[in-house]
Amino acid sequence: MEGTREALDITCTRTRDADRKNPLLLERGRGATFVDVQGRSYVDFTSCTGAAPLGMGHPRIVEAVTRHLTAGGGVLPGTMSRVRVDLARRLLDLFPQSERVAFMRTGSCATTAAVRLARVATGKDVVLTSGYHGWHDWQLQYQGDTRQRASDPRVHHFGYDADHLLALCRRFADDLAAVISSPEHDVMPTEHLEQLIAITHDFGAVAVLDEVMTGFRVGPGGLTARLDPTPDVTVLSKGLANGSALSAVLLGPRVADAHEAGDLGNTYLRETTPFVVALETMDLLIEETERLHRTTATLGSGLNDVFATAGYPACAVWDDGILHLVFAGDDLADDFYRTMLGRGLFLGTGGTVLPGAGVTEEHVDLAVRAARGIAERAAGTGLTTPVDARGDSSLRRPFADFCTDSFHTTPAVADLWWTTKVAAQVTPAHEKGEAR
Ligand SMILES: Cc1ncc(COP(=O)(O)O)c(C=O)c1O
Repeated sequence: MEGTREALDITCTRTRDADRKNPLLLERGRGATFVDVQGRSYVDFTSCTGAAPLGMGHPRIVEAVTRHLTAGGGVLPGTMSRVRVDLARRLLDLFPQSERVAFMRTGSCATTAAVRLARVATGKDVVLTSGYHGWHDWQLQYQGDTRQRASDPRVHHFGYDADHLLALCRRFADDLAAVISSPEHDVMPTEHLEQLIAITHDFGAVAVLDEVMTGFRVGPGGLTARLDPTPDVTVLSKGLANGSALSAVLLGPRVADAHEAGDLGNTYLRETTPFVVALETMDLLIEETERLHRTTATLGSGLNDVFATAGYPACAVWDDGILHLVFAGDDLADDFYRTMLGRGLFLGTGGTVLPGAGVTEEHVDLAVRAARGIAERAAGTGLTTPVDARGDSSLRRPFADFCTDSFHTTPAVADLWWTTKVAAQVTPAHEKGEAR
């Protein structure tokens, strides 16, 4: 594709920029629609990987930014701006279990800051982790031996496994600072997350919830608001400033005092525009949340019906605006995403689908119809496998592979999530397929 090779040669990478299989060089976007350098137009079903749930170029945000840049300048010589304090107040209202807010720019920086502050607060070093938290050295633990040189030996990965967590907590009881987990809300039962936090507290460690993905997707107050016990630290980023680089670390009473000694330098706290965008985003997003969730559910159930009817071995699992697509095989997934893209429908390539506010019923309808074409075309080609009498066995294994590959769970955790949360959503659709 035009310009792609040069982009890869001089600045982009296949793994991080080019979505590997379907590289597009992008030009501009509005709402859920974006255009590549060749003028082809696509519908985005990923909210720009969750960063912009209100869509691209939202008119109220464009207006607020334009007004702010003209009147306010966009950057100040000091870090203590009115908009920063206004946003902190707003976040503390939404997350009342917290006392202070530390602002950063990215999710990676914010989770690193959370870990630093937990270590400062406890005077201890060991961190136990589950899920993706970014690209920094301490965050590489789950990647195994190939990255060990870069990773932090004081950090241990437990793959969301409560037994494994318990064993590590016992092993490092004297030096345990924090346990940090990224909730995979659509597949992970809330009770499981609560269990991990309870174990953390039993050992006196700081519970950090990485809500970079979920915080502004599941609703006001994020998942944090629903949990009992609640985490000591909540990390937010995607959706906070609808695509502008901003993240926040919300500090509960156990960690708030560490903010001073944590010494989190950050030149770009002087840039005021992301705070302005966040203040504008907050109310708009709360208004849109229910619709975002509805759109996601309509897409998910539409796709599951199509897959089940055609005997196509894939499924959608979703909850509160977050949807994952699971395929029985990489070839099947590649064919699906490539064909969808060819029809102007961008669902990413990694399985995470996050429809934004610009996605309309018509867009969902287009996606479901395109998926039906793919599923029907695949029937009888050997790409599909029959669903067995229990209705789930053809997807149980792919789901387990998906969890171990994407979320780095242990196989036991994947099985637990399937049994306690996912099967109920997937199996009925496949039983429908069987009944035909
Ligand atoms: C749960 C979670 N934590 C942290 C990050 C890292 O955020 P960033 O890419 O902004 O550094 C991500 C990014 O996808 C994420 O999903």
